[in-house]
Amino acid sequence: MMKKNEGRLKHELDTEKIRKDFPILARKINGKPLIYLDSAATSQKPQCVLDAIMDYYSRHNANVHRGVHTLSGEATTMVEEARDKVANFIGAKREEVVFVHNASEAANLILYSWGEKNLHRGDEVVVSLLEHHSNFVGWQQLAAKKKMKFKVIDISPEGLLQIEGSSEHNERGVVLGSLATLLNPHVKVVAVTHVSNVLGTIVPLQEVIAMVRRKAPEAIVVVDAAQSVPHMPVSVKDIGADFLFFSGHKMLGPTGIGVLWGRERFFASMPPFLYGGDMISEVYLDHSVWNRLPWKFEAGTPNMAGMVGMGAAVDYLSTVGMQAIRDHEKRLVSYALPKLEFLEHEGLIKFYGPRSAEKRGGVLTFSVVGVHAHDAAQVLDSQGIAVRSGHHCAMPLTQRLGTSATLRASLYLYTTKEEIDLLIEGIRQVNNVFRP
Ligand SMILES: Cc1ncc(COP(=O)(O)O)c(C=O)c1O
Repeated sequence: MMKKNEGRLKHELDTEKIRKDFPILARKINGKPLIYLDSAATSQKPQCVLDAIMDYYSRHNANVHRGVHTLSGEATTMVEEARDKVANFIGAKREEVVFVHNASEAANLILYSWGEKNLHRGDEVVVSLLEHHSNFVGWQQLAAKKKMKFKVIDISPEGLLQIEGSSEHNERGVVLGSLATLLNPHVKVVAVTHVSNVLGTIVPLQEVIAMVRRKAPEAIVVVDAAQSVPHMPVSVKDIGADFLFFSGHKMLGPTGIGVLWGRERFFASMPPFLYGGDMISEVYLDHSVWNRLPWKFEAGTPNMAGMVGMGAAVDYLSTVGMQAIRDHEKRLVSYALPKLEFLEHEGLIKFYGPRSAEKRGGVLTFSVVGVHAHDAAQVLDSQGIAVRSGHHCAMPLTQRLGTSATLRASLYLYTTKEEIDLLIEGIRQVNNVFRP
């Protein structure tokens, strides 16, 4: 008789074992087993991350970088070890890893520190239509304030970033077009996501950055990696951007902790973002001297338990293996795509984004025809299925898709094929409820 799990391919994740590490996955919602398909909003946390946070508070808690007593030394060692873990995880130097509170704060740090100092009237800023608001709105606002041209890289009908092509046009006074048409020597910033949180589109960053370096040699490249670092191997060395950021809570870590990676030469010449304790080395009546990197950008008491928890999350992800996680999500997407396309063929749903698992991450976005996304999400919730509904903090993209709200089922290392099957059944149920 075949033993349980024997049918698994050699490199497949043992999701049954992984799921046991996540206490919340044992919960029932509305009397049904929880099917958590909202990891792109925030991931669930394994017991080892919860334990690391509890251990920090119950045994080592003290303020860092200040005290000479034993606990302060232990806490400092723990948070700096967490920095080393994160640096190794993304192939960075530890001086280039700044802890912030989330991806949004990281984007603001670049804007307020680098942007305020280095951008001027007449410069041009290019962002992509795939951006989450956190890598879009701030650039839009700074461009308006400094009277800079704000330009947007368009997407193809399939939802891929338009790199080549000559289809430049105006919409609400903003130029939209392919990356190739938007770049010129006046462009000083290119802000682009690695993986879209709405369409799952994977942006070929190396190709994008090579073009930016050729056509806009003075531009910095800012990468939003909030949906890539948790799901696939990411090396800042291989990517070659200037800044890259992500949040801990989307990669099994706690909330309130995120990372901004930046090239040392930029960080060194940038003014502090926030003033306060820890970010200074000397203060006089008339002037102050900033701390060394990375602490120059970490004002005040940091989220120490958050750093420790993020370090534990990185350990967990590294043990499972980032390529194994990417392969698992690719398999799930390949499994889900034909099922969703069949529902589309039947006229039940409209599916958005690339139709190939190679070109997308584990984010599946669709609308149930004739049913508002929030209503559909409520019916799914009644079956224990948690999906996100709305504009997913990417309104320009959602508008471009010709809608105001969609449903998003997002996958992670603990998602199973059985859960995809139940999602498909759940969508049929939504259709039965609203269009009997
Ligand atoms: C692509 C992307 N960027 C940025 C963010 C913002 O992350 P946070 O809310 O942790 O700042 C999100 C969150 O959904 C995201 O999906």
